[in-house]
Amino acid sequence: MELQDYLRASIQKVDNALDTLLPKDTTRPATIHKAMRYSIFAGGKRLRPVLALASAEVCGGVSDAALHAASAVECIHTYSLIHDDLPCMDDDDLRRGRPTNHKVFGEGVAVLAGDALLTLAFEILAQAPTTPRYGTATLIGELASASGSQWLIAGQVLDLEGEGKLISKEDLQFIHQSKTAALLTCAIRLGAMSADASPAKLNALTEFGQSLGLAFQVIDDILDVTQTTEKLGKTAGKDVAATKATYPALFGLERAREIASELTRKALGALSLFGDDATTLRALAESLVVREY
Ligand code: IPE
Ligand code: IPE
Ligand code: MG
Ligand code: MG
Ligand code: MG
Repeated sequence: MELQDYLRASIQKVDNALDTLLPKDTTRPATIHKAMRYSIFAGGKRLRPVLALASAEVCGGVSDAALHAASAVECIHTYSLIHDDLPCMDDDDLRRGRPTNHKVFGEGVAVLAGDALLTLAFEILAQAPTTPRYGTATLIGELASASGSQWLIAGQVLDLEGEGKLISKEDLQFIHQSKTAALLTCAIRLGAMSADASPAKLNALTEFGQSLGLAFQVIDDILDVTQTTEKLGKTAGKDVAATKATYPALFGLERAREIASELTRKALGALSLFGDDATTLRALAESLVVREY
């Protein structure tokens, strides 16, 4: 199957699952459920859930078994974006081609919509089917760790503290690994776990996710400099304006591009164990390095 067809079909499955798993926007209090749905269905790329489904398949499982994990990760990701956009953080007005959550619903409701999506993620994952190797507590522990104060939140804290500072390459890499690669890797691991992946396969996919996730954030930094607001669906040039610590700021655009390619090559190398079974994951990884939004 061509990658575009695979993406279309997978995104449709994920959207259907999310529509079923999120409370209806008429559920009381309607405001919070409208706000949650506003950001969840705003047209994100759904990269993390698609990676979860593809990882289940590469381990011999079926994508449907990974839908709870995929949806839970997308809820965490969307919450992190709602909060990332708040005036007290990156102060952004545009996200996924629409006004940000706090612009539409106000800051109070936006904070709460983020909180509610964060909590809902664990409620959803608690309902995920389990396998002989991986029980509910393991799955929940994975997601809690990746989104907690030593990974996603750690990255967000250091990202804020890094504004206006010249930080080391090691510290910048740590920020990007924490704020972005950890959750992306978690999506992949949870997908693999839904297929009862062997430890060897889980390790290979973890290495794949760590390199791919870092590459993904390096490219996000590059696109902030090189793309237009229209293309990105979020305001371009914000990193320079906020003097964020980014790969283009520290290394220059050309070197940042090389790093993204090197990381993608490294990610592809981690898939060797899977042979031809990893065609979809390979195509996905290759498409990310040339993405324009
Ligand atoms: C944006 O993530 C934030 C980062 C971690 C770079 P995405 O680029 O995956 O955003 P959506 O989900 O497509 O909106
Ligand atoms: C966001 O990083 C990372 C998380 C939300 C965890 P950025 O601040 O670079 O993401 P964008 O550019 O606003 O999408
Ligand atoms: Mg940010
Ligand atoms: Mg931001
Ligand atoms: Mg960015």
